[in-house]
Amino acid sequence: MQEIHIVDLRRLTQLVKEKYNYDLTNYAMSSFKRRISRILELYNFKGLDALTKKVEEDPVFFEEFLSEITVNVTEMFRDPPFWRELKEKIIPNILLNHQKISIWHAGCSSGEEVYSMAILLKEMGILDNARIVATDIDDRIIEIAKSGIYLAKNMDLNRKNYVRFEGNSSFDDYYKEKDGKIYMDKSLVQSVSYRKHDLVTGPIFSKFDLVLCRNVMIYFNQSLQNDVLKKLHESTFKYGYLAIGSKESLIWCEIANKFIVVNNEEKIYKKIKE
Ligand SMILES: C[S@@+](CC[C@H](N)C(=O)[O-])C[C@H]1O[C@@H](n2cnc3c(N)ncnc32)[C@H](O)[C@@H]1O
Repeated sequence: MQEIHIVDLRRLTQLVKEKYNYDLTNYAMSSFKRRISRILELYNFKGLDALTKKVEEDPVFFEEFLSEITVNVTEMFRDPPFWRELKEKIIPNILLNHQKISIWHAGCSSGEEVYSMAILLKEMGILDNARIVATDIDDRIIEIAKSGIYLAKNMDLNRKNYVRFEGNSSFDDYYKEKDGKIYMDKSLVQSVSYRKHDLVTGPIFSKFDLVLCRNVMIYFNQSLQNDVLKKLHESTFKYGYLAIGSKESLIWCEIANKFIVVNNEEKIYKKIKE
């Protein structure tokens, strides 16, 4: 494995910031280094200098580079008990005071999380009462999310998750399979608005009853997590809910006292202060 020096990494992140307006400077160092090593190997670069030059000169390659840096791994009904908690407690709670529910998937990746939400809402009979916005920093992954086309080999895990979530229909009714690919029922997401949005440099653009930002901040350092959580706090209505990934936490961040823990295991928080 090639040695990666911090000073060279800084040059690369500085270039990305200046040329492409993406701020990778506060991505957690260990995983960032690991991703860079992977790119060097994958594309056979002689060293970080060669990679930096390519990023500078080739905007199309930069998009590929960004996809590699921002880990896109996802699945449907990831952490099934989390989705059960949404169905049984969180969403009914929101609907006590509202007829409609607004939801933001921040860092939606290829859209499996959005389909999980749409299926859940459909089974609750409230899909038509939902406004869903799904965003990600990565253009290419948003296109996959919009297409709703996935690899059939991933469906076993998705189905297992759905069964553990205790969905009340047959999972196979939500898609068609052809030539090793899955075509999701697009009517589920017909009113979802997919947008490119960078949680680090992007604006606060609306307020929501429920914000999901799961397994995104795990790649950020503490200072960046603080900044992003401030944005997520501002984007949540008072008494609305914020959900983060099971390995993430709000405890150490500046806005922690503006939320109460609703479910510690599933990392669901309720905003109690502006
Ligand atoms: C591991 S996936 C998580 C997907 C999904 N939320 C889940 O839990 O399965 C992380 C996603 O965050 C996105 N991401 C990384 N940095 C981001 C940023 N600064 N702004 C918005 N999205 C970002 C990545 O492109 C990737 O799609």
